[in-house]
Amino acid sequence: MRTVLDKLDHAPRILNFLRGLVEFRPREDDVFIVTYPRSGTTWMQMILYQLTTDGKMDFTHISQVCPWFERSLALGTMESQDFESLRSPRIFKSHLPCRWLPKGCRYIYITRDGMDVAVSYYNLYRSHLGFDGSFSDFFDRFMTGRLQYKSWFKHVAGWQAQSGNPRVLLVRYEDMLSSLEGVVAEVIEFCGLEVSDKQLDRVLRRCDFEFMKKHESKFDHATRVLLDRGIRPSSFIRKGNNGDGSGWLTGRHRDAFHRQLEKPVKNPTIELDLAEFLR
Ligand code: A3P
Repeated sequence: MRTVLDKLDHAPRILNFLRGLVEFRPREDDVFIVTYPRSGTTWMQMILYQLTTDGKMDFTHISQVCPWFERSLALGTMESQDFESLRSPRIFKSHLPCRWLPKGCRYIYITRDGMDVAVSYYNLYRSHLGFDGSFSDFFDRFMTGRLQYKSWFKHVAGWQAQSGNPRVLLVRYEDMLSSLEGVVAEVIEFCGLEVSDKQLDRVLRRCDFEFMKKHESKFDHATRVLLDRGIRPSSFIRKGNNGDGSGWLTGRHRDAFHRQLEKPVKNPTIELDLAEFLR
């Protein structure tokens, strides 16, 4: 009985999302930034916002200018008609598997070292989602896909199967760290944008870790709620480096991760759990 009632609680959000998905009118130049959480989504949102606008920082939250597709539909903060009023090229964020997104757009999928994702996600689960287990408990969930967005291995494999699709650009977080300018140039070409040298200079300055950290509340969707609850903010734009995994993972964790990474993902289909995805 309890499970049925729990499921009913999610029904309005699922219906909102499905209605929005059906009503959504894709444009050829729409850009979906897609990731498994903690892989550089917000950073790419800021890059595309800076590339496609005058870059003013007068929004309260980045989701007002680059909406989180499934979440804003599910929560009803935006409807498909609201998306209509956004200027092209529209930029959306999403964590959905490929088959759940509108067709006919452009998609930028970012991957990041899975061990760094695990550490970053663990910290987010603790700071934002009330998780109070140990890193080891979290890591076991990460390895078996018992997290909100399920298996990192399948999520990545599902999108990597799109390699070669001219409408999909695969980007590595580590490349953004080592050569932001190079990645920005790829994004400009992929999206067919025209960007002056002066604008490019501004984009690179504003997408710098320090600049984004300084404006963290504009990126952290939970900052306000957290402050209200007296929870420590400043943990969304957290460290922004690679190799953080090595400080948290034991030898056992690392071995398990590498063993699983080497195994081909036979079926990258992620179990359809809209209730969780739209939480
Ligand atoms: P860490 O927790 O390892 O610091 P997402 O936006 O997908 O949730 O990804 C969040 C991760 O991207 C966090 O990683 C965050 O610090 C990092 N990040 C955000 N902006 C960044 C920037 N300008 N430069 C480097 N890393 C950035």
